[in-house]
Amino acid sequence: QEDEKRFSYEDHKTTADWLLSKTHHRPLIAIICGSGLGALADSLKDQVSFKYSEIPNFPQSTVHGHAGCLIFGNLNGKPCVCMKGRFHFYEGYPIWKVTFPIRIFHLLGVETIIVTNAAGGLNQEYKVGDIMVIKDHLNLPGFAGNNPLVGPNDERFGTRFPSMSDAYNADLRKLACTVGKELGFSDFIREGVYCVLSGPSFETIAECRMLNCLGADAVGMSTVHEVIVARHCGLRVIGLSLITNKSVMEYDSSEKPNHEEVLETGKWRAEQFQTFVSTLVGRIELN
Ligand code: 6GU
Repeated sequence: QEDEKRFSYEDHKTTADWLLSKTHHRPLIAIICGSGLGALADSLKDQVSFKYSEIPNFPQSTVHGHAGCLIFGNLNGKPCVCMKGRFHFYEGYPIWKVTFPIRIFHLLGVETIIVTNAAGGLNQEYKVGDIMVIKDHLNLPGFAGNNPLVGPNDERFGTRFPSMSDAYNADLRKLACTVGKELGFSDFIREGVYCVLSGPSFETIAECRMLNCLGADAVGMSTVHEVIVARHCGLRVIGLSLITNKSVMEYDSSEKPNHEEVLETGKWRAEQFQTFVSTLVGRIELN
């Protein structure tokens, strides 16, 4: 895991201070835009953006469909910073690089983070295009030792043994459901459990059945690592999954999940997804 190159608290400060010196924006909300959801970042007002490649210590993104920049600006009147393109474990990053931006958000003064992703629907009642408000997660890579907090703990970020029983903020989840109703989106808004796998291969049929038995409603390759690090440093979290495809659960099915389908669904639901997030941001109470 390239442990010797792990960034110190001071390295994180260097990155945060660099950003604070380059923009007058002081974001209180961070938004991670998942696959095909980058248009949300583009809708920020009074934008100031930084390519990941120009930010000191920032990892670079590689995967198709994930541009790499940090965008500061206002969304529905609230000061935000958006990650357009995130880092995935399957790209080969050590897990501490995947979650590096989260601690930067914390040092910038962010208090709430909205984490979005594209996910496969394991719950048979879910339809393509549904938006799932994440209620809880299953960290399967964590069971095998791939937890982003493994390693020395710096108390300046957070405690050695953080609780995850309240990872997804109950008030924010309730707000999301209220906002969904008001927008007339209730038909496609759900609440459920997100399961992370390392990827990049999609799940086998047996794996999908197993995850379903374990209580997962959606499956993906991101989010959970970021959420763990966000909770560790005290950020309030809301997670949203766009169900881009249904997991294949039957051996006589001819369906196969693929990245193109994931990006296509992102496109046709993008506008409503943006409206949802933007309305939610407008309603989040800040301290
Ligand atoms: Cl079906 N599986 C995983 N692991 N990630 C996904 C997905 C499926 N659909 C979108 N992302």
